[in-house]
Amino acid sequence: MGAPTSVDRRLVEHVDRLAAEHPPIPLESVDYTVRRPELLRERYGHVLDYMARVELEVDRNVLELTTLLPDPPEVDRYFYADVWHPQEIHHGLILDRLQVELGRPPATPDLDSISLKLRVLGGLAHLPAFQDVVRMLYYLTGVATERSAVIAYNLLHDGVSELGETGIAETVVAPIKRQEPGHYAFYQLSARGLWGELAGWQHWFVRRMRSLSFAPVGANNATQAADFGDVMTTLGMSDGIDDWAAKIARVETELLWARDRGLAVPAYVVRAFREALERAAARAPSDFGPSSHVR
Ligand SMILES: [Fe+2]
Ligand SMILES: [Fe+2]
Repeated sequence: MGAPTSVDRRLVEHVDRLAAEHPPIPLESVDYTVRRPELLRERYGHVLDYMARVELEVDRNVLELTTLLPDPPEVDRYFYADVWHPQEIHHGLILDRLQVELGRPPATPDLDSISLKLRVLGGLAHLPAFQDVVRMLYYLTGVATERSAVIAYNLLHDGVSELGETGIAETVVAPIKRQEPGHYAFYQLSARGLWGELAGWQHWFVRRMRSLSFAPVGANNATQAADFGDVMTTLGMSDGIDDWAAKIARVETELLWARDRGLAVPAYVVRAFREALERAAARAPSDFGPSSHVR
């Protein structure tokens, strides 16, 4: 590695600040008092479950990272080990406890199975020329994931407040949603810095692999994609998915697809969200389904 660049210094300062200002949310600070548990469970139970699972899966994400980036820059390790992982685990524990308080079973995160796709990428990352391609894909995934989290927690906060569950909004959702923008900023700064250092052929690979592998956060199989579709619908994102996709992919659109000037959002992002909604609709019990005539 060469001398630290101004981006490296800004990243270290950013992580220092997050570590100082955003310790993991103390678990005992949460007030789980719910005024109408049935209503909250009915409306948002599946959203809490999805978010709890994804947050708790950071244990697996760290394993994936060590597979993907055998030799990461020090600031990446500093961020994910000292700031990101401890914060996200507490998000998961708090959300999971809330859904259990509401009478739902706890989330079932997948904590240790690393997909073939990631193992192949990890293998490629041992080739020095590919290491930065893989690192770029990691940052882009981080940008989209954390942007999704910022949006989803904002919408959940509004929804839970509207139900009159102010305790949950203030002691569960608000503290979590305050920690996500710092994660987003870390990945965005990293992605912008690295993109400028990559060669043309590396840009080509990043675009190609991103087009082939993009998935909504936490949607690693068909069932999870359908679950994501339901979350989108409940949070009010199913209308205007092009706009939501554009928000989530803004940095990616700007960096990877700048030459396609005027492109609002890459087609593979919109397609992934649309597919999630379609999968959710396909498994929803139909009012006109086989059982309707016996009612
Ligand atoms: Fe989180
Ligand atoms: Fe996060």
